[in-house]
Amino acid sequence: MVVLGSALDPAGPAARDIDDLWWFLFWLGLAVFALFAVLLALGLRRSHRAAADGDDPSGDDDPHGRSVRAWLVGGGVILPVVVVAVVLVATILAMRATADEAPEALTVVVVGHQWWWEMAYPDHDVVTANELHIPAGEPVRLVLRSTDVIHSFWAPALGGKLDALPDGDNVLVLEADEPGTYDGACAEFCGLQHANMNLVVIAHDPADFDRWLSANAEPAVAPEDGLAEEGREVFLQEGCGSCHTVRGTPADGEAGPDLTHLGSRGSIAGGVLDVTADDLRRWLADPHAVKEGVAMPDPELTDDQLAAVVAYLEGLR
Ligand code: CUA
Repeated sequence: MVVLGSALDPAGPAARDIDDLWWFLFWLGLAVFALFAVLLALGLRRSHRAAADGDDPSGDDDPHGRSVRAWLVGGGVILPVVVVAVVLVATILAMRATADEAPEALTVVVVGHQWWWEMAYPDHDVVTANELHIPAGEPVRLVLRSTDVIHSFWAPALGGKLDALPDGDNVLVLEADEPGTYDGACAEFCGLQHANMNLVVIAHDPADFDRWLSANAEPAVAPEDGLAEEGREVFLQEGCGSCHTVRGTPADGEAGPDLTHLGSRGSIAGGVLDVTADDLRRWLADPHAVKEGVAMPDPELTDDQLAAVVAYLEGLR
């Protein structure tokens, strides 16, 4: 299970603006609620007294009736208009603060798929999945899109959520103050495994980020042991490469996640499993038993083939 970082524990500038707005709306709402709770209590006491005195406050010429109308206009029209106008202005200011384009920033194309995230760094020939690596302390420009239905990118501690649409790009500027790992998830119902479409944002110290980027731009390094080499052959023969890319091999499919440096990642299948030999074996033995409805077909490998492919994939660093 993934525990989402909290939007009330902001770790970046956009998240802080949203957090400020949230608390402003909370205190404003609380003040209005308290005001009306007091007025209601006073009104109830008064109407009890009026009933006891046999008073009727509804007559038109009665000063009592005029005061009732003043309360209705003041509390039922003027106050809500003022409060809604204040909320509107505060919201627009927060939207402007968070929607800033960052033309100079690093661009990452984040593509939603049922049910995983593709993260592509078009200027650096790097493609990975479910893990968004960014430099800490600088804005990063995310271009969000989808290959199928509407998904929504959300890393609560870092900023607002924004839809990934099949028919047009959305841009979200994200920034993390400090290096660290921040959880995220798909925030728009997108089918059977919507709840298993998680992601992590890993913010690095900028020098570490540059190292990560150049290491991931390299083609896959073939693992040098017999079992892994056998796994590579099985992987290619069984047609895995028609859906998955492993740069530096003939595998160049684009339907599924790029596996070039799979062994250096933390998880697979939208965060459902870890990149360990046991979890990779579970996944390859029967993907649908782990995540019902996934696009990946059952590879139907023998036990020996399975062990070899697991060794190969784990070795892709
Ligand atoms: Cu993708 Cu919900």
